[in-house]
Amino acid sequence: MFKYRIDSQLELKLLEPGDAGELFRLTDDNRAYLREWMPWIDMTQTEEDSRGFIESTRHKWAKGEGITAGILAEGKLCGVIDHHSLNWMNRKVAIGYWLAAPAQGRGIMTRACRAMIDYAFGELKLHRVEIMAGTANMKSRAIPERLGFTQEGVARGAQKLYDRYIDLAVYSLLADEWRLQSLDGGR
Ligand SMILES: CC(C)(COP(=O)(O)OP(=O)(O)OC[C@H]1O[C@@H](n2cnc3c(N)ncnc32)[C@H](O)[C@@H]1OP(=O)(O)O)[C@@H](O)C(=O)NCCC(=O)NCCS
Repeated sequence: MFKYRIDSQLELKLLEPGDAGELFRLTDDNRAYLREWMPWIDMTQTEEDSRGFIESTRHKWAKGEGITAGILAEGKLCGVIDHHSLNWMNRKVAIGYWLAAPAQGRGIMTRACRAMIDYAFGELKLHRVEIMAGTANMKSRAIPERLGFTQEGVARGAQKLYDRYIDLAVYSLLADEWRLQSLDGGR
């Protein structure tokens, strides 16, 4: 069981089948807003869909392919963050995330990302963390920029978003850079 306390307000935890109702309600309540950037939203129409998603993430975790965690603010689910595309050979991983609209603007995702980066470099001893965000998704891009990632370029047409392909800004952070930031007191 994975649980990670970030601070007195925030906690990450591996999603469980019993969270399906709460996860579905959060998704459904934020459908129009999430649809702007999340390609899976139309495939989530019932609580059963959320349960199926949670089960797939638990299989992924059990196989050592990365964690998908619920973000709890004061004990209430307010978003999801994951490690995906985990590549043990090259010791790298990518981070993906979303927040309910009312939870935005408080630094919750920046803090959750910081925890997932600490976990990647600390516990998992990985070498590289990637974040990719739609070039026009300024709120998402602000997160790696705030955390000292380097933008490496733009992956053209790299994500299918319903009826179109969007370009993704590609950001990375290396383990040594994270350690240096920590020594500099920069985070
Ligand atoms: C992308 C997304 C997670 C960003 O949410 P967010 O609330 O802007 O990000 P954070 O939780 O890190 O909060 C940052 C904001 O809180 C403010 N803030 C307050 N306290 C803060 C703190 N301690 N640390 C950092 N930021 C803080 C920041 O100034 C910033 O506000 P601003 O945008 O007005 O400058 C959210 O918009 C979202 O889920 N969008 C839909 C799904 C999506 O696009 N996912 C990403 C796909 S790549």
